[in-house]
Amino acid sequence: MALKITVIGTGYLGATHAAAMAELGFEVLGLDVVPEKIEMLQRGEVPMYEPGLEELLRRHVAGIEGASGRLRFTTSYEEAGAFGDVHFVCVNTPQKHGEYACDMSYVESAFDALAPHLTRPALVVGKSTVPVGSAARLAERLAAAAPAGADVELAWNPEFLREGFAVEDTLHPDRIVVGVAGERGEELLREVYATPLAEGSPFIVMDYPTSELVKTSANSFLATKISFINAMAEVCEAANGDVVKLAEAIGHDERIGKKFLRAGIGFGGGCLPKDLRAFMARAGELGADQALTFLREIDSINMRRRGHMVELTRDAVGGGGFLGKRVAVLGATFKPDSDDVRDSPALNVAGQIHLQGGQVTVYDPKGMENARRLFPTLAYADSALDAVRGADVVLHLTEWREFRELDPATLGEVVAERRILDGRNALDPDLWRKAGWTYRALGRPSA
Ligand code: UDX
Repeated sequence: MALKITVIGTGYLGATHAAAMAELGFEVLGLDVVPEKIEMLQRGEVPMYEPGLEELLRRHVAGIEGASGRLRFTTSYEEAGAFGDVHFVCVNTPQKHGEYACDMSYVESAFDALAPHLTRPALVVGKSTVPVGSAARLAERLAAAAPAGADVELAWNPEFLREGFAVEDTLHPDRIVVGVAGERGEELLREVYATPLAEGSPFIVMDYPTSELVKTSANSFLATKISFINAMAEVCEAANGDVVKLAEAIGHDERIGKKFLRAGIGFGGGCLPKDLRAFMARAGELGADQALTFLREIDSINMRRRGHMVELTRDAVGGGGFLGKRVAVLGATFKPDSDDVRDSPALNVAGQIHLQGGQVTVYDPKGMENARRLFPTLAYADSALDAVRGADVVLHLTEWREFRELDPATLGEVVAERRILDGRNALDPDLWRKAGWTYRALGRPSA
């Protein structure tokens, strides 16, 4: 009999995982404690913007015409316990208020709520990003609270999906990492992931702590790569060099690689910044803080980018204060193809300029609703053209395709000054300069 799967927590990770599991042929029950979210998902609507997810969901949600019916949603842990052979825990672990450590309360609540309903053999699989040592602790907690006792096993299976590519990354992972303490975990997860395994995804089995560390170290490495190229951008600016050419040239060395070398206003989002900090906090608890002191520098190079962008903007509008200056901001999300504004460098820059008296107008293709909620005091426009109307300077802060396709001549007719700062090194300098704009980018010569 095919395995039945529950997915606990239906955010970016869980909603995608649930739909992907249904796509792979399993009966799936998604659970969330927020009833409005469940009602939306049950109607085949996705509570966030993620390319391809709504289509995938609508192919499987029970009750939708033409759907396979393999995917349902609930708010009941009792129902989940009775339904699933494998329970994926996909709740988030945000940064704690005022601390570097991550907040484990959602994970702990999920385990505590599920455990009393595990009355038959089951595998619980943690997918959330957690401090190393959590899985071992949660396994003990599970064993003590689950009525089926030793018949309930725990595995740790970190998730590496990128927002904007969540569906693709979940259905075709470039590796499947599994932390186990018994044999059933590996066996069942091989069954769950049979399709990607057949397509060649590597399956790497290890102990709990290593599997937890794989996730935090992968994110730390990615953050390090971005801050490295941003540090080079700082040096390029001082030496009148060009960081885009530099990145292209070093990226040809396969040991370095081309990806994640785009200099700009740095990384943000719900993962990289908080994972770095939580990793440092955990290493400190373990007495290994010296090993990760370099991550503090990675974090500070990253945060410096935002301040630097504000200073470049100040220079662009004459070097004095921002009072009376109109600043158009293109982009609000932390990256393109997402509506996520968590720790978004773009909104941070917009907010700083606003707080210093600038008249800031923001436009983003998908992030407006979330941005308005987070920064209600900024002005928002319905299009890029409306955002730049009357602007003394235009800031390009999230590299949406829509912005690369803008016509500089059309925009040039409505701005007060043809001045653009490219915070993502993603626009074509020649195109803008030919249309009479002063184009400046981070880490590149000004003319
Ligand atoms: C990241 C990891 O990539 C993913 O594997 C993990 O599961 C979750 O965290 P995500 O947060 O979706 O994924 O975004 P990612 O594509 O990694 O980008 C993170 C940030 O880095 C964005 O703000 C992006 O703009 C920035 N970035 C990325 C750069 O500034 N330069 C680059 O070259 C690449």
